[in-house]
Amino acid sequence: MFAAVKQARLLRAFRKTQVPRTHAVQIRGSSAASATFHLREDCLVLHYGGTRMHLNYVWLRDHCRSASSYNSHTHQRNVDTGCIDLHIRPDNTAVEEGHLVLTWPGGHVSKYSLSWLAENSYERKKDSTVQPRILWNSDVYKNANIPSAKWGTFMSCDDELKQFLQNYILHGIAFVEEVPATVEATEAVTQRVSLIRETTFGRMWCFTSDFSRGDTAYSQLALDRHTDTSYFQEPCGIQVFHCLKHEGTGGRTLLVDGFYAAEKLRQQSPENFELLARVPIRHEYIEKSEEHQNHMTSVSPVLNVYPWNNELYQIRYNNYDRSVINTIPPDTLQRWYVAHRELTAELRRPENELWVKLSPGKVVFLDNWRILHGRESFTGLRQLCGCYLTRDDVLSTARRFGLHA
Ligand SMILES: [Fe+2]
Repeated sequence: MFAAVKQARLLRAFRKTQVPRTHAVQIRGSSAASATFHLREDCLVLHYGGTRMHLNYVWLRDHCRSASSYNSHTHQRNVDTGCIDLHIRPDNTAVEEGHLVLTWPGGHVSKYSLSWLAENSYERKKDSTVQPRILWNSDVYKNANIPSAKWGTFMSCDDELKQFLQNYILHGIAFVEEVPATVEATEAVTQRVSLIRETTFGRMWCFTSDFSRGDTAYSQLALDRHTDTSYFQEPCGIQVFHCLKHEGTGGRTLLVDGFYAAEKLRQQSPENFELLARVPIRHEYIEKSEEHQNHMTSVSPVLNVYPWNNELYQIRYNNYDRSVINTIPPDTLQRWYVAHRELTAELRRPENELWVKLSPGKVVFLDNWRILHGRESFTGLRQLCGCYLTRDDVLSTARRFGLHA
């Protein structure tokens, strides 16, 4: 249905010329890239750079990059979307020098770079990942031989920080070694990455097995794998641990890639994956002591995916903090337990467990939206400090370095 027309003739015919709807137009530039478009009643179909785009007319007016419609200095929209005619159509359509040029009723002209349209099209985005990741089990992670950052260079060298962030984004965990075993140094190494997120547990927390808070973490007991603050409406994005002192045995830290386990579930039982990604459950934290009064609660699926491409972005898995289940219809509950059991089995596979001894000087950063952590029981005095980081700021730092995050 697309007529092939020679370049010179096309450029003459369609430059500043109205294109009747339903006609197909092909523009060949001097480069290998070519553009083809035709106007449908509901959208403009543009084929460029190997991408066939269906560009809604309201979307096109809404995304006009002219100075009156968009402030390219602040990167903010000026056009009032609420005032765009929902039946708007261009009076004139052309491709000129690598740009789609539309003239709207009233004379306003919108000009879009073809590469910008392709890059920002639904068709291109739906097939790309929001955040690239390397999923791992114990062997995969160990065989990758990912180097830890070193305190001295990490604190002063941007390349070291960039490499650390790249490792962190891809694997969900990253280490800094040779950090002085103090709360102050832990705070400093953390602030090198991002802002600290203050919570009810403080800004920098430092705990021993003294049961000072109403949480199993403040004991010597083993802790099964879990994500933290699942009871927050927005769980903490990044967790930092630093073991300042341990005079005793045990206490190794367990790390499990929750996305690796979830993707296994998706492959084996897509219907169970879908159920855990669709049905919300509640997590809760209740604390009633003289110093602390808390009642936190959240409602969210165990697995959270972007709705347009089904990419996982968050797992909430905490059997300690999971509250009464009363958000699942009775006819679905049994199936939910089956799905939850299958995910649990994947999370508990020994080959998926990465055991790490956190010794003084070794600080671990972990993605609390992806990586589950736990610990084995221990004896003796064990002093751990750490904090949470704001997720947005960590990812922002990564993007500043040009990383895909
Ligand atoms: Fe925890």
